[in-house]
Amino acid sequence: MKTILITGASSGIGRATALHFQAAGWNVAATMRKPADGKDLAGLERVAVLPLDVTDRASIEAAIQATLDRFGGIDVLLNNAGYGLAGPMEAVEPAQLERQFATNVFGPVYTMQACLPHFRARSSGLIINVTSIGGRLALPFNSLYHGTKFGLEGISESLALELQPLGIQVKLVEPGGVRTDFAGRSLDFMQKPGLSAYDASLQGAMSVFRDPARGQNYSDPAQIATVIYAAATDGKPQFRYLAGDDAKEMAGSRAQLSDEAYRDWAIQEYKL
Ligand SMILES: NC(=O)c1ccc[n+]([C@@H]2O[C@H](COP(=O)([O-])OP(=O)(O)OC[C@H]3O[C@@H](n4cnc5c(N)ncnc54)[C@H](OP(=O)(O)O)[C@@H]3O)[C@@H](O)[C@H]2O)c1
Repeated sequence: MKTILITGASSGIGRATALHFQAAGWNVAATMRKPADGKDLAGLERVAVLPLDVTDRASIEAAIQATLDRFGGIDVLLNNAGYGLAGPMEAVEPAQLERQFATNVFGPVYTMQACLPHFRARSSGLIINVTSIGGRLALPFNSLYHGTKFGLEGISESLALELQPLGIQVKLVEPGGVRTDFAGRSLDFMQKPGLSAYDASLQGAMSVFRDPARGQNYSDPAQIATVIYAAATDGKPQFRYLAGDDAKEMAGSRAQLSDEAYRDWAIQEYKL
C-alpha cells in the first residue's frame, strides 16, 4: 500500500487531495498546523493527521518520522501549503516578505530536504510541488507571490536533474484559480499609509480580479486533487501539470506572446 504525505491538508486543495488518495486506498499523512482542523479526516481509515508547520523544521522532522513509524514509508511528498501576498511591492513590510518566502519557498525546501534521506535509501520517491499558473506568468500586484512560485519552479526544475540519477522524481502541479480559502483568509495584503501613487491602477486590477465572471472558470479543489492523483500514478516522466481549464488557457495564450506583447496586453486587461 502506498503512502502520501501532504502539507497544508486542513483546507482547500490539500484537504481535497487527502480525501482523494484515501478513497483510492492510499495511506495518507494529512499534515497541518492545527490538527484540530482535521478531526473529520482523522476518523477515516489509513489517515494520520499530524502537526506540521512548514516554517518549523522540528515539526517537519517529527511529522516525517511519525509517518514512517505509522505507515513504514513515504512514496509521495506533496508540498501544497502556501498562501498569497498581494498589493504594491513598494508597501511590503519585512515581516510580510519573510513569512511569504518562509512558507512558500523555504518550507517546501526544508520538507524535501527532510524526506530525501528516506527516498535515497529506497532509491525511489516522488516529490510533487504545487506551484501555480502564477509560477509561469505574472499578474499585476502579486509580485512577491509570483516570486515564490517562480522560485519554487526553478528549484524544482534543477532538483529534478540532480535527483533523477538517484531514482527520485520531481513534478509540478500548476493550478489556475481554485475555489478555496486562498483569496480569503489565506491572502495577506501589502499597504502603506500615505502611499497613494498606485491607487488608480490597484483599483483597476482589483475590479478585474473581483469580477464574478472571472470566478466562473475556476476549478473546485477536487478537480485539482484529480490532477495531483494523475501526476502521482501515471508513471510518466512528465514534469509540469497545468490544473484547470483557465490555467491551460492562460498558459496557451501567454506562450504565443513575446514578453513585451504580454506586458502591453496585461496593462490593458488589468486596467492599469
Ligand atoms: N486557490 C487558488 O486559486 C490557487 C491557485 C494556484 C495555486 N494555489 C496554491 O495551492 C496551494 C493550496 O492553497 P489553497 O488554494 O488550497 O488555499 P487554502 O484553502 O487557503 O489552503 C492553504 C493551506 O496552506 C496551509 N498553510 C499556510 N501556511 C502554512 C504553514 N506555515 N505551515 C503549514 N501549512 C500552512 C493552510 O493551513 P491553515 O489552515 O493552518 O491556515 C492551508 O491548509 C497553495 O500553495 C497555493 O499557493 C492556489
